[in-house]
Amino acid sequence: MCGIIGVCALNRNITPMISLGLRRLEYRGYDSVGLAIISGDGLVIRKAKGDVDSFLSRFKVEELSGLTGLGHTRWATHGPPSDVNAHPHTDCSGRIAIVHNGVIRNWNSLKRVLELRGHRIVSETDTELIAHLIEDETPFSSSFFEAFVRAVSRLEGSYAIAVVNADEPNRVYFARMKSPLVVGLGDGFNIVASDIPALLDSTRRILLIEDGELGWVTPTEVKLFKLTELGLVSVEDKDLELRVRVVEWSVEEASKQGYPYFMLKEIVEQPYSIKSTYEGNVEDPTLRLAASLVWSSRNIIVTGAGTSYHAGLIFSYYLSRIPRRISHNIIASEYKLVEEAVGEGDIVIAISQSGETYDTLEAVRAFKARGARIVGVTNVIGSALSRESDIVIYMRAGPEIGVAATKTYTSQIMSLTLLTLFTALEGGVLDYSEVRSKLEKLSGAHEIVARAIEKSLNHEIDLSLESKSTYILGRGLGSLIAREAALKIKEIAYIHAESYPAGESKHGPIALVEKGFPVYFIATSDSPEIEGNVMEMKARGARVVVVKTDSWNLDVEPEDTVKIIEMPLGENEILLEPYPLIPYFQILAYKISVAKGHNPDKPRNLAKTVTVE
Ligand code: F6R
Repeated sequence: MCGIIGVCALNRNITPMISLGLRRLEYRGYDSVGLAIISGDGLVIRKAKGDVDSFLSRFKVEELSGLTGLGHTRWATHGPPSDVNAHPHTDCSGRIAIVHNGVIRNWNSLKRVLELRGHRIVSETDTELIAHLIEDETPFSSSFFEAFVRAVSRLEGSYAIAVVNADEPNRVYFARMKSPLVVGLGDGFNIVASDIPALLDSTRRILLIEDGELGWVTPTEVKLFKLTELGLVSVEDKDLELRVRVVEWSVEEASKQGYPYFMLKEIVEQPYSIKSTYEGNVEDPTLRLAASLVWSSRNIIVTGAGTSYHAGLIFSYYLSRIPRRISHNIIASEYKLVEEAVGEGDIVIAISQSGETYDTLEAVRAFKARGARIVGVTNVIGSALSRESDIVIYMRAGPEIGVAATKTYTSQIMSLTLLTLFTALEGGVLDYSEVRSKLEKLSGAHEIVARAIEKSLNHEIDLSLESKSTYILGRGLGSLIAREAALKIKEIAYIHAESYPAGESKHGPIALVEKGFPVYFIATSDSPEIEGNVMEMKARGARVVVVKTDSWNLDVEPEDTVKIIEMPLGENEILLEPYPLIPYFQILAYKISVAKGHNPDKPRNLAKTVTVE
């Protein structure tokens, strides 16, 4: 996820607007920054790896001036963070500059064609190809806009782009497909940006651009078109007027897109992040390569910290059920427990959202030194984990700002489930049609998570806010999801929550249960015997809440002290069960935190990325 901005003004220097816009967009991406300004007869481009503040001071951006320009904050998706991969990118002539947010799926074939046609591509990004595409279409077009439209029509995937052309110094072209884009309407200037916060310091009059729309802004006009199968259709000026909105939000509210906290925004984003993980990985040859290594390896070690470790537990369970391979889960900071036994022929699946967690990197280095191969699963391109791994699987969940991992947990599970299925295919345990039918089910996970989020948001909090302690019990898959649910309740709601295998709870933990003690059960279809454990707790006076999916029946009657919450799933498929179940607990933790007056984005004593031992 990157942030883009494009500005053109009648008679004022646009550099301060771009600088401020970059600061406002930094939350969308934070590994590289750049800008392009039309100045004199050409383009001035400054770009570098690093954060916005260092960029602005290093290049003395306040000394630049111009009437038209672009800005970009990058969150790498194609090519690691580097000066050359930072946006804006240009064509061969250096007269077209582009900034982009999104992923171009057909970049590989476009690159081959462009190179054959003599274009010199200097970065590893998909974005640069768009600048060359426009250049390539120019000889066949009667105007720059026509070349722009022809280039955009050749793109597959998602994009919000802004383009300037040094030969048309008062215009910013734009296009949108599945990536956000807005136009801010000013007095003597207009702005194109990925997000409302980038505009709010300059204007509050906003026009939301829709998928398939493209056009241009000058300082005084907006021209909008819709790209349809029948060709380009102009959007009438009077229709544009009707779409203009006046935004009252503060900049901070706008960064959260109207949500009071990033945690809630990220929970609600899960349908999109899961879809992006699925679509970004399902056809990626890297996944097949990783799967063949998993299948052919001697030992499979799965490691990570916190939520990432919890996702790894689910991966190991699926590995044992589908390709029937046993793996060893090890908490990263405890890697020494298995270190001596690891060596050549072994594979380590190291999971880390940030890719920078000290403990995980230490474990990776230790295992690697002993000859094991490393498959890193991370959300951050160019992170230390991605650099130290032999193979990298990217989660593609978009940046996660809230300290508590939410959307990246479900994306980790999705990418690891895909790895499981391809491992089964590799080993001949499943044939291609069996894998395809499971993939089809997984491709609908985003809809399942969306329904679960909606139901959980509308659900009342079941756990008394005064509770100091609770158990979260499960069997099979449920016991693994319970680990993550308990972590969320602890770190965000500040309630002591202990997860335990439900069957094991009678071997000790049940001693704490007395009248009114709150106990959650996460009941999954692989373990209907959990009924007996519910009865044990009920008999001791516990207040019980059972969270399950609607795809199977549990023989427990709801009553005063036993609540049953059913999450919509619709079919009995173990690979899909985490998606309807975990949002309930993410939202529960969030709601309790807010009701108690805490800030769920900044739980005490915790940091988003733990880079210490
Ligand atoms: C919990 C949480 C942490 C992280 C852990 C690992 O909500 O966010 O437990 O999961 O610090 O972080 P990564 O995945 O970046 O290695």
